[in-house]
This record gives sequence, C-alpha cells and structure tokens, in this order.
Amino acid sequence: MKVIATKSQLKLFLNKHRHKNQSIGFVPTMGALHAGHLSLIQYSREQCDLTVCSIFVNPTQFNDSEDFKKYPRTIEADTLLLKEAGCDVLFVPDTEEMYNNTTPIHPDLQGLDRILEGEFRPGHFDGVVQIVYLLLQAVRPDYLFMGLKDYQQQLIVRKMIEAMDLPVQLKAMPILREPSGLAMSSRNTRLTAEQRHDSAVIYKILFLSAEAIRRGTDLKIVVDDASQELKKYECRLEYMAICDADSLKPISHYNPDIPTIILIAVWWGDVRLIDNMLV
Ligand code: PAF
Repeated sequence: MKVIATKSQLKLFLNKHRHKNQSIGFVPTMGALHAGHLSLIQYSREQCDLTVCSIFVNPTQFNDSEDFKKYPRTIEADTLLLKEAGCDVLFVPDTEEMYNNTTPIHPDLQGLDRILEGEFRPGHFDGVVQIVYLLLQAVRPDYLFMGLKDYQQQLIVRKMIEAMDLPVQLKAMPILREPSGLAMSSRNTRLTAEQRHDSAVIYKILFLSAEAIRRGTDLKIVVDDASQELKKYECRLEYMAICDADSLKPISHYNPDIPTIILIAVWWGDVRLIDNMLV
C-alpha cells in the first residue's frame, strides 16, 4: 500500500493508473477504522481497479472543539488494517495541505444541511461539504463509497455532487452493526463497557419503532414510547425523527408508498451516537 501525504504526489501516482484506464474507488474517513470502514474498502475493491482511502480528522466539521480533541486517532493501527484489507493507496494529508489556497464552495443543499444533525451541530455540514469536495478534487475517483450510518451526510454529499456536477458516482453502503445491534462507529471506542452494552438499546428502539410504524401506530406515540424506553438508561435523547427518506422532511402519517426513515441521536455520557433505520 502506497502512503501519500500531498495532493501533488497523489495526482502523479493516480494519473499513471488513470492513463491505463483503471477505475478508482475512494473511501474518505477520519480514521479510527472499524469493520464498517473496512466493508467500504471491500466494496471498492470489488468494483474498482484501484482503491484509495483517506484519513483526515477534519477540524472544520467539529462544532465542538472538545469532540475534535477527543476524536480517536489510531493511525498506526489504521494503516495496518488498510494494508490487510488490500487498500492500494492511503492519503494522509495534514490540515495545511488540505486547506491551503482553497476557496469555500456554497452548493445549494436545499436546506438539508440545517435540519436534524445540522440543527444540533451548526456548521457541521459546511465542514463536511468543504472537505469532501476538496478530497474529491484531490482523488478524482470514479466511485465514492460512504456508509449509510451517516444517512443525512450521504444525502448532502449526493446533493453537493449534483449541484457541482462532479463526475463521480456515490455508492451508499449498508450500516455494519456490532453483534449487540449497536451501529459501528469510531466514537464507540469512547464508551465504557457498560455504556457500550446499554447503547445497543438504540437498535432495539429503531427496530421496534419501524415495526410499530408499519402496523399503523400513530407516529407521536412511536416517538413517545421510544423516549420512555430511553429514560430507563443514563442517556439523553437529542432527537428522534420520522422523515421522508429523500427530503428528510418530517412526516405526520406513514404512507408505505413513500420511503420513510427513522433517525436518532442520543448522548451516552459525553459520546454522541447517531443511527437510523428505513421503515
Ligand atoms: O464520515 C466521516 O468520517 C467524515 O464526515 C468524512 C466523510 C470522512 C469527511 O470528513
């Protein structure tokens, strides 16, 4: 696996492959890799000739400086995992390399960046959009692989790709879960053993809520029941929303003909967990 820290070296290296008509798959990450990330590498390897992964803990997407400081950084272990997973290129720029001489973009995201995660983490999606755009400019992949755990993020990146008319296809891949049902996330490593055990209830709630919605239960009751269940634990529900899965507009009645999604954010101690499930 080639490890590259600058955009110019990356361009030189990838151009050689591009000239041989090889397709490039790209998996952007902030490191602290887990099986979810590795599944994205696997998807890319199956579909593309060359797989590039980036590790960059992007300061501009953290609305909370403590979260940025505490974000797990495990570059040595990550490098080994990527090598074993058969990744071809690891791109590890620093902040200056990534942002120097760049101009912010302002694509029309149709308000998607200001609701749900965007409401509770102001500025977060501005940072995500800037960095994904810059990474796409640096890698120029044919395919971009992202996980569905960050459901709103992948919708926003899709909107940005459309708005900027970028020549890349976004592939959003399924959530990987721990055996307990807890969605895999780099932040899980910051949970205590007890919190990790307890927070599996998020999956149970999503699963039971999806069932209740399909049975025709009033959506307010579904959210109330979930909130009551969470009160049994030492956690704080930030939001639970039942939305149209394309526009993320909240719905008041379930219509099986309209793709519907439940999205949830819960604080467990000082760790913020998000998850979602399509109804
Ligand atoms: O999902 C993430 O890990 C990050 O938001 C991303 C897409 C790598 C941008 O920094």
